[in-house]
Amino acid sequence: MKRSRALKGLTLAAATALVLSACGGDSGGDTDPTTSGGGGETSEEAGGNEGGDIDPTTADTVWKLAFNQTDAHPQYKAAVNLGAKLYEATEGRYGIEVFPNELLGTQADVVNNVSDGSVEMMWIGGPVMESFNEDFIVFNLPYMFASQEAQNAVFTDESVVGELFTSIEDSKRITVLGAGYAGSRNVYATSPVREPADLEGLKIRVQQSDSQVRMIELMGAVASPMGQGEVYTALQSGVLDGAENNPTVFNALKHDEVAKYYSFTEHLMIPDYLIINTDVLNGMDDADREAFKTLVAEAVQEANTGFFDFIDQSKENSLAAGAEFVEDVDVDAFRELVAPLVAESINNPVRQALYDAVQEANGN
Ligand code: GCU
Repeated sequence: MKRSRALKGLTLAAATALVLSACGGDSGGDTDPTTSGGGGETSEEAGGNEGGDIDPTTADTVWKLAFNQTDAHPQYKAAVNLGAKLYEATEGRYGIEVFPNELLGTQADVVNNVSDGSVEMMWIGGPVMESFNEDFIVFNLPYMFASQEAQNAVFTDESVVGELFTSIEDSKRITVLGAGYAGSRNVYATSPVREPADLEGLKIRVQQSDSQVRMIELMGAVASPMGQGEVYTALQSGVLDGAENNPTVFNALKHDEVAKYYSFTEHLMIPDYLIINTDVLNGMDDADREAFKTLVAEAVQEANTGFFDFIDQSKENSLAAGAEFVEDVDVDAFRELVAPLVAESINNPVRQALYDAVQEANGN
């Protein structure tokens, strides 16, 4: 998307402040930082955009970045900051506009727009990537990563993930730029789940992929794959008995109101990938692309760091809303039930190598 260069890089507030100070007014410079592009409260953290005086949506080329969570999410904030830093690093040639709340569509839909280039970037949950290259399954398997540190070590090791992350460039024109932490996922339902018998026959929403369906079936539930935007209504109307997700979604989408028992099955730690259309990436000159890649790596770590506070805050909010956290769960029993999925999925040398790298990072 091309934009006019008029007032390039300045928000209306910042431009007004300039005019006012030239006229001797507003000498305190108390412009409203919350008017910066899309970020609102994030402008303070925008490193290079303090005071929110950069509006990356005025760049020569503005990329749309689709996001399915709210603007309180650290991945949203990191993406907004990435847009401002990219604008600075490329002297206004590139900027990013972030669209939260599934505004551009569900992940399963909008990934097709990234593929055809009509949306340039998105954050996407790991399971959705399996439909393009099934080898992505390794990182979506239950009880795979022992910790966020282990996960991050794998995802930042180019020698491990480099080929996977470029594996759908030819077929889909999609490049994976980085992989971020998305918490650990647990089951929540209208009743507590302490052991497999408690989950037996419950209708549980999972992400849209074969691995996720198979996983929840092995755990004893009935799988209901759907986009996350439909889950609240389905829970409320009784179409679903529960879902599985991290504590931030449980709270942000108010699932804690309609399925209040959040039980720590700890069955998943699935990444979110930051992806871009390959032709868009290749269209940058070498210097801009290198600067962008460095900024992306920073953005992923920024999002990861912010996630821990976001989880704590979300749990507090859910407790206040009347949710109950169930800690005494027989995790080993669930781990045993899903073991066949892990065994049957590691069925080629590529997956074996990825699996081995995870085990090494786990310290096994
Ligand atoms: C998490 C994850 C998202 C995913 C969502 C879901 O929030 O970060 O990428 O889309 O769960 O369950 O659909």
